[in-house]
Amino acid sequence: MTSAAGPRVVLVTGASSGIGRAAAHQSAAAGDHVVLVARSRDTLEEVAAECAGAASTLVLPTDISSDDEVAACVAAALQKHGRVDAVVHSAGVVAYGRTEEVPVDVFDQVVRTNLLGSVNLARHLLPPMRERDSGTFVQIGSIIGHIAVPTMSPYVVSKWGVRALTRQLQIENRDRRGVRICYVSPGGVDTPIYLQAANYSGFVGRPPPPVYRPETVARAALRQIDRPRDRTQVGIANGVMRLGFTLLPRVFDAIVGPMFPVAAKDLTHPVAPGTGNVLEARPQDDRLRGQQGSAVVGVLRNLRRRVGRR
Ligand SMILES: NC(=O)c1ccc[n+]([C@@H]2O[C@H](COP(=O)([O-])OP(=O)(O)OC[C@H]3O[C@@H](n4cnc5c(N)ncnc54)[C@H](OP(=O)(O)O)[C@@H]3O)[C@@H](O)[C@H]2O)c1
Repeated sequence: MTSAAGPRVVLVTGASSGIGRAAAHQSAAAGDHVVLVARSRDTLEEVAAECAGAASTLVLPTDISSDDEVAACVAAALQKHGRVDAVVHSAGVVAYGRTEEVPVDVFDQVVRTNLLGSVNLARHLLPPMRERDSGTFVQIGSIIGHIAVPTMSPYVVSKWGVRALTRQLQIENRDRRGVRICYVSPGGVDTPIYLQAANYSGFVGRPPPPVYRPETVARAALRQIDRPRDRTQVGIANGVMRLGFTLLPRVFDAIVGPMFPVAAKDLTHPVAPGTGNVLEARPQDDRLRGQQGSAVVGVLRNLRRRVGRR
């Protein structure tokens, strides 16, 4: 979109896959200058070629868990455009496993990417926004940042941290009315993150129903630029889960153990332990959608398998 200053400058992290890739497409379609950030240059170049309608595209391969790389990335964006109007921060990784099962380097890198990566981006992007008293920082959180579930220990910890950071940034930036910190929290989304995850839990993960398209979450994120809200949930089940976790913790804890593998794993798809894309990008598996098929069929298949075992 264009303002008096010309087309908006929108920086998208995680732009090579899933929600970030959808946000890049939509921002381009709105005529923005789109700055594309993820680790894999080749995939970002591919996405840049898909960005029809963009005022311009700028590919900045960056590991957001490194403060030095984020500093260089923001400097390059500012050098090219003079400002960043909005950030859709969608980069993230998952590791499945109990706390003591996930190897230390994988556990730490999930937290470093999801939580400290968000800190790094805030550290370098917010000062120029505060100086201009203008800008929107959209943090993609997760329903998992509000609850706890079995075998997702590092992801749960990191996403609770992301929610805490967002609230902290909202308080810290109250003195700049033009700077908005927005939190968008999706439930299950059909993206490759489940297949890309590090996994020490025995079975592949899958988005639990109801599953949303990455485009839906991207639209909610980009909407914050014109109509900022402190908190947005994307997923009709999110409210029920948050309420149950908070108001009925014993009931929640009793149910989540047996329910989680049936709703959020593919029990017909065993997986060998591995680091997934946590330590290094796996560009061959980056794409817009996850392609894991119907969640309801997945749940029924899991139930049949459970019943068949009795
Ligand atoms: N899918 C869901 O069901 C769901 C639900 C709730 C919340 N979320 C959240 O939504 C966000 C996007 O997830 P998604 O499902 O779209 O995942 P995705 O398809 O796997 O995309 C993740 C993106 O993050 C990038 N990335 C990973 N590590 C990075 C690093 N260290 N530095 C820079 N970029 C990095 C990846 O590219 P490279 O590998 O090339 O770096 C990729 O572009 C994440 O924060 C996730 O936690 C997803």
